[in-house]
Amino acid sequence: MAQCPKTILSLTAEEVLALKKGINFKKNQEEGKCYIIYKDDRGLRACRNQCKHQGGLFIKDIEDMDGQTVRCTKHYWKLNVSTMRYVNPPDSFEQDELDIIWVDGGIELVELNPPDPWLSDPKMTEELLPGEVTITYMTHACMELKFGGKTMFFDPWLIGPAFARGWWLLHKPPEDAFERLCRADAIYISHMHSDHLSYPTLKMLAAHQPDVPIYVGDTSRPVFWYLDKSGVQLTNINVVPFGVWRNIDEHLRFMIMMDGVHPEMDTCIIVQYKGHMILNTVDCTRPNGGRLPENVALMMSDFAGGASGFPMSFTGGRYTESWKAEFIRNERKKLLNYKAQLVKSLQPKIYCPFAGYFVEAHPSDRYLKETNMKNNPEELNSLINKLSPSTLTWTPKPGAVLDLGLAQKNPSDSSMAITDPPPGTQLYMDTWDFDLYVNNLNAANTEDIFKHDSWIQFYYSWAGFLDYNLVARVIETDEEFQPLPGGYDYLVDFLDLSFPKQRPEREHAYLEVRNRVGVIRHVVRNGLLWDDLYIGFQNRISREPDIYHHRFWNHFQTQLPTVGPDWDSFLQKVKMEESEEAGVNNCKLF
Ligand code: FES
Repeated sequence: MAQCPKTILSLTAEEVLALKKGINFKKNQEEGKCYIIYKDDRGLRACRNQCKHQGGLFIKDIEDMDGQTVRCTKHYWKLNVSTMRYVNPPDSFEQDELDIIWVDGGIELVELNPPDPWLSDPKMTEELLPGEVTITYMTHACMELKFGGKTMFFDPWLIGPAFARGWWLLHKPPEDAFERLCRADAIYISHMHSDHLSYPTLKMLAAHQPDVPIYVGDTSRPVFWYLDKSGVQLTNINVVPFGVWRNIDEHLRFMIMMDGVHPEMDTCIIVQYKGHMILNTVDCTRPNGGRLPENVALMMSDFAGGASGFPMSFTGGRYTESWKAEFIRNERKKLLNYKAQLVKSLQPKIYCPFAGYFVEAHPSDRYLKETNMKNNPEELNSLINKLSPSTLTWTPKPGAVLDLGLAQKNPSDSSMAITDPPPGTQLYMDTWDFDLYVNNLNAANTEDIFKHDSWIQFYYSWAGFLDYNLVARVIETDEEFQPLPGGYDYLVDFLDLSFPKQRPEREHAYLEVRNRVGVIRHVVRNGLLWDDLYIGFQNRISREPDIYHHRFWNHFQTQLPTVGPDWDSFLQKVKMEESEEAGVNNCKLF
């Protein structure tokens, strides 16, 4: 049975507003099941009202003065719902948290069903011979995994930028990385973000090996939604149901699982060979809803942070340089601690931080490169070494090889198990092919559609976002985010999808977005998601009030139609209208 997200409680926007600060007890009237929702200034957390001990029901703890703790009616265990940790018994368990999905101001509590799908059809663990399983780090989130005679690749990004022109490879891929990719028996692509699904890399692959089997999860936004438009001709893409083992051969199988926070697009994977599990949580915020296998042979995950336009692309109000620097410092530290705690709780035999090796290398993005600090993998690994001394940590260099059998046999000595690239190997990129890719994006600047200002109405009607009290001013800019002379500068009122000349009189939220002209026109022309702008640092944003408009960004980052705007019919219509108008004017002359 495929794993799927199940909504177990829904609250409307009014019901969410009515939640009081602190502990709220809620019941699903249909199923009779009870839940706890905790509210504070940071947001909401939720769990089942079910004690971890023997399933008892929690009630308010009258001894608790802070309004954060509930008490089990059976044997009096206590749970602090602000941290989701049991305080009685002290330092003991964590409560399984439910994922919260926001829908138009309301929420849905979601859990994945079945919760631990990897437990199905268990396999005996067999001893591995030296060299039988090797893992080679290529770049960023790209790994080559060899299992006996089979080769698997994760997320190949070997050439070109990601997110329009905002991210570039930090590491130089091994010289033979591409030939090795062409020989893969299976490629897993975790999600549609372009540092994982790299069309420049896949274009090259398709030219040599179009039928290499590629596997993706069955996300509601298809990973390859843009394949036809991209012109890349891959012929063996397999969409795999979640939480189901997929066999490659008698010893090798894998299972793709979804993310609890972004089930519409993010996935993670477990690969199992002769009973040894490799867990790759990639970029998931809450992989598999937070339930993951313990004691796997190898775990790899993201670690770096900095993969968002927030806060470095924001201007005005509190977004001073010192505020942003302080925010980033705190957030990175939190992420580092979270990853270290996760490793401590899961106790993998080996841990590898990856999927964070990009750089804002384009000269126009020097500000980002200098300020958008990321976590250091060495720092994370030394924290893990302190918290979880039995876990062997691996900071990968491009071309470095981990021998899984040797690493498990002698976890205290990594020198036998990890082979670094030969001395003198160039590990970091020092030049990038900026012109090729930036010129390609800028080609959209001279597209005919932008000669007619009615493209604005056509595009936003196609995008389909409305009934939301937000007015956006969208400005085309030069490289330095200064308004482009002769560029478009317009307002969109998303309440009724109108395009006023002035901001409306009514009370409304306001967003000002300055986009580099080449990138916004490329995005508009091709019906692409706004990730290229937002995650790729290709815009600058100010807002009033200073709140995150989840509905707006979620729509433009994940919900835009999968078929792009029909610009041919737009141009035909515009030209017809123009010739009709010319006809009327000619008649007037006579
Ligand atoms: S069931 Fe909750 S303390 Fe025993």
